[in-house]
Amino acid sequence: MVSGYDLKNVPVGSVFQSGEVRLEITQIGKNCHSHCAIHHKMGDCIMPREGIFARVLSGGTISAGDEIHLVSGLAESPLRAAVITLSDKGAKGERADQSGPLIRELLEQEQYVVEEMLLLPDDRRMLETELARLADQRQIDLVLTTGGTGFSPRDITPEATIAVCDRMAPGIAEAIRMKSLQITDRAMLSRAASGIRKRTLIVNLPGSPKAVRESMDVIMPALKHGIGILRGTDGECGSIQ
Ligand code: MTE
Repeated sequence: MVSGYDLKNVPVGSVFQSGEVRLEITQIGKNCHSHCAIHHKMGDCIMPREGIFARVLSGGTISAGDEIHLVSGLAESPLRAAVITLSDKGAKGERADQSGPLIRELLEQEQYVVEEMLLLPDDRRMLETELARLADQRQIDLVLTTGGTGFSPRDITPEATIAVCDRMAPGIAEAIRMKSLQITDRAMLSRAASGIRKRTLIVNLPGSPKAVRESMDVIMPALKHGIGILRGTDGECGSIQ
């Protein structure tokens, strides 16, 4: 137990120090699949809402009575991203996923830290669960999905994205379609959506590596400012009249 900090409201990515021990907060809350002994005994358990998980950056011993300090918060922590590839064949191991690794490479070129790479079948419930977890527990800044935006009956990426978002940010998907139409008429066949859940921006990209590259060329320059505003580390825009 720690006093002096409201730990459940500390942003993921914050770093704490106690003596020689440094801890980086990685997750707040966890999915509880089958209730644990605490839940059975007490009728409730705070772990799903308030459990704090941390990566040990440097280890050591901590004891009751030691002081602990927040040494860096959100403003200093890098932008954190996750990539989800939606592909029935990819998830079954019948096709190599080229688009997910390409997104990772392009994100890293822009200094994002890619925290998770997921390869899921085109399953709406599964995608919604993962998007909610990445936003709520992992507080990821940017989730990019690839695939599942077209007209196949199995394509459900936009529906899952819209279902979990609190607010849509349609301009991002519109910009991708608008610029991509200058390259191929088929860009109009992507139903991709973009929106916000809590402080996480979720953007759907089409499935092919070519479309991924073309789409990221369009959005990457503007995204950082939007994410900065979401995080509260960038101010609102103003201009001198
Ligand atoms: N957007 C860009 N920039 N470049 C492309 O080659 N392909 C389109 C479209 N968007 C494409 C694109 C095609 S052919 C399809 S079918 C849709 O994205 C949907 O792709 P998805 O189902 O793999 O998400």
